[in-house]
Amino acid sequence: MRNDNDALLVEERTADDLAACVRVLADVHAQGAYPLDWPGDPAGWLAPQALDAAWVARDAASGEVVGHVALCRATPDDLAAALWCAAEGADLTRTAVVSRLFVSPAARGRGAGALLVRRAAAAARAAHRQPLLDVVESDVAARALYERLGWRLLATARQVWDGGRTVTLHCFAAGGQP
Ligand SMILES: CC(C)(COP(=O)(O)OP(=O)(O)OC[C@H]1O[C@@H](n2cnc3c(N)ncnc32)[C@H](O)[C@@H]1OP(=O)(O)O)[C@@H](O)C(=O)NCCC(=O)NCCS
Repeated sequence: MRNDNDALLVEERTADDLAACVRVLADVHAQGAYPLDWPGDPAGWLAPQALDAAWVARDAASGEVVGHVALCRATPDDLAAALWCAAEGADLTRTAVVSRLFVSPAARGRGAGALLVRRAAAAARAAHRQPLLDVVESDVAARALYERLGWRLLATARQVWDGGRTVTLHCFAAGGQP
């Protein structure tokens, strides 16, 4: 059971939140391996060109940022989006990519990750776009979360990233209708 101290809020990210998001991302990266390679410009990494919207999860009592998610337009590098489009005979404009999901190690297991993914997926659906994502195979907690939320595994594939690193990605589509 959750008490009041566990209460979380999800709000649209503002420019004022970016520094706190970078601090949380640094904790996530130090504790695990997300992102696999620490970006040279972390604030820029959180605001990619294809960004449509981003949200933060806050501890309701302290107002502190504990998590983050983004919703982006798909690019040709987004494998799940490409696979879904090929299967549906659709183009990338009917898709939206959930990305940049992370929760502070100290705030895990309180439902922030689920709240953030649901918020991003709901925004995609409201725009009549299918929510999709690629997750690196080593992000096991994230994969478990997507499956628990009813996302469907489309495929597992390898991809070569800029810099030459080869990664194995699980490609997921949110359940339900776009
Ligand atoms: C994935 C992540 C966002 C989940 O955040 P969270 O706030 O702890 O998530 P929630 O509290 O909503 O849900 C936790 C669920 O995650 C899963 N989970 C959490 N830790 C896990 C672990 N070590 N192994 C397997 N599953 C795990 C479970 O399904 C759990 O479900 P439960 O509530 O039934 O136990 C967080 O672990 C994280 O930031 N990971 C690193 C960043 C990352 O991998 N991002 C994905 C990019 S695609």
